Amino acid sequence: KQFHMKPSRFHFTKPENFISMYHQEGTDTLYVGGQAMIYVLSFTDRGVRDLQVGLVICNTATSWWRCLECDNFITVIQKLNDTFMVCGTNAGSPRCWMLVNDTVLTDVQGGGHIAPASEISPPYPSQKSLSLTADGNLYSAMSSVGSLAGSIRRTFGSQKLLKTENIWLLNPQFAGAAIIPSSEKVQEEIYFFFSEFNKTARVDEEPYRARIGRICTVDEGGIRALLADSWTTFMKARVMCGAGSTQQQYNNMKQAVVLTAQDKRTGIMYGLFSNAWGKTVICAYSIEDIDRAFSTSKLKGYSSPFIGSRPGMCARKNPATAESPNNIKNLGVIRYHPEIEDVIRPVGVAPLELPTDDQITHAVADVTLAVNDEHYSVLYLGTEQGKVLKVLHTTTSCPPECILSRDPYCGWDKKNHYFLLSPALKLRKTSPREVVVPFNTSVFLPCPVRSFHATYRWEKDNCVLNYPCLFSGDFCVLGPAVDTPLKEGVFRCMATEDGFKVEVISFRLKNDGGLLAASLASTLGLSVLLALTTLWLH
Ligand SMILES: *[C@@H]1O[C@H](CO)[C@@H](O)[C@H](O)[C@H]1NC(C)=O
Ligand SMILES: *[C@@H]1O[C@H](CO)[C@@H](O)[C@H](O)[C@H]1NC(C)=O
Ligand SMILES: *[C@@H]1O[C@H](CO)[C@@H](O)[C@H](O)[C@H]1NC(C)=O
Ligand SMILES: *[C@@H]1O[C@H](CO)[C@@H](O)[C@H](O)[C@H]1NC(C)=O
Repeated sequence: KQFHMKPSRFHFTKPENFISMYHQEGTDTLYVGGQAMIYVLSFTDRGVRDLQVGLVICNTATSWWRCLECDNFITVIQKLNDTFMVCGTNAGSPRCWMLVNDTVLTDVQGGGHIAPASEISPPYPSQKSLSLTADGNLYSAMSSVGSLAGSIRRTFGSQKLLKTENIWLLNPQFAGAAIIPSSEKVQEEIYFFFSEFNKTARVDEEPYRARIGRICTVDEGGIRALLADSWTTFMKARVMCGAGSTQQQYNNMKQAVVLTAQDKRTGIMYGLFSNAWGKTVICAYSIEDIDRAFSTSKLKGYSSPFIGSRPGMCARKNPATAESPNNIKNLGVIRYHPEIEDVIRPVGVAPLELPTDDQITHAVADVTLAVNDEHYSVLYLGTEQGKVLKVLHTTTSCPPECILSRDPYCGWDKKNHYFLLSPALKLRKTSPREVVVPFNTSVFLPCPVRSFHATYRWEKDNCVLNYPCLFSGDFCVLGPAVDTPLKEGVFRCMATEDGFKVEVISFRLKNDGGLLAASLASTLGLSVLLALTTLWLH
């Protein structure tokens, strides 16, 4: 059947237990780093084209009585300008390469600065790290392990290489990072999400604290005597996830994803948290709230008024004033008081009520355009039970019967304000033809019947409720009837045959008292529909 397309699927030929990925929005190529292998996967209608670049490395320096280590787990794949930087664990002594033309590995080249590979990739894949690029510079965050402190660094590029001071982070375990855009380039920031772990916490104390750390991308470090190779814009905040200020708090942030506008500091952050008993929840935060806290909050342990500009704000380094007493004072304030007093609380004060009791293991967020031309956040949640849930998150007061989503089989849960969407069948979508309905007229919508073995039904706004044909033959016609809301909205004609469901045609009805039937006819495309619709209009 034409509408039953085989999904493009790539099967790994060997188990890959630790993978890193890179995907540039708008392209159909996915870069996957595995064990001693880079997979360059191009997804097309006709299947997946894969290129595999091998990177087997053995650590010959390993003493003979220990096993020869040949593991090179690829932990970093990032695009910098036009080339790819690839780093791997390289048998316990990390190393980086450039991937040229998707096929050739060369040594790292290019002007500018480069940090040792051990600051970009961890030596073992179980040590969580993350990396991202901004303006051709690479930023790397390394989680703490054993006695290693963990850090946030600028590790490659034309800008100065910078790091966090060790005392700023307490055994961080990184959960995510995102560039926070701004209409003014100088205000651009990067947020890092992590949990801190207090090793000396008493048994009756919560050892984890969820955090947001932020730096400005214009940061060029301090002066020779103070923060010479460190961030001068690092600040961190406590993130709470729980109901109000009750004891029931989720303090271990496992994963964080951010959805922002292209060039504005608006958006939403979703965090996946767990508590001491391993129960998982999702909390949502407003980027505006976080931004406001960083730019207005008092700093913990610092009560004197600020002189001149506020410490830690994004600004280009001015060599003429770098050593001025005010600047030196501000550098000292940030060095010793990088934590803000304000606590970041979730929107709606509590975790999202999810339509599952399963424990969540993965969370991904995306923005989707619904048929009503509104943008909605959609969360994809992986669970311990092997399910993938798709949840629409909305904070507005939605139409009570059903929200307008492009997805089929949606269900509206009034209490929780979510949509539950069942696994999607491959559907052929049509774009709705606009029909302006003159005041006080009835409209009939025709749907051509192509197969007499199929069942034809009408759906409004993708609701689960559907409406039968008023009469059928060559066309399944939807018309005014009791319980048929032929009001404004999108009406889709769905044909079901052998368990497959396809969308045949769709109309968007709009009320307009001023328009005549003739203008309706002119908005329709196909001639067969034009003739019919004119006929059905009274
Ligand atoms: C990459 O491809 C270009 C164009 O085909 C070629 O000129 C260049 O030599 C290739 N680079 C490497 C390192 O193979
Ligand atoms: C990337 O491009 C920028 C701007 O063109 C340039 O300043 C920088 O040196 C380039 N970085 C590398 C690693 O080539
Ligand atoms: C860790 O917990 C111990 C015990 O409560 C406390 O004394 C110490 O200050 C905590 N460390 C930090 C960095 O908060
Ligand atoms: C709308 O149609 C109804 C039924 O045909 C009629 O009773 C009513 O007067 C009409 N209203 C207007 C404003 O034309």
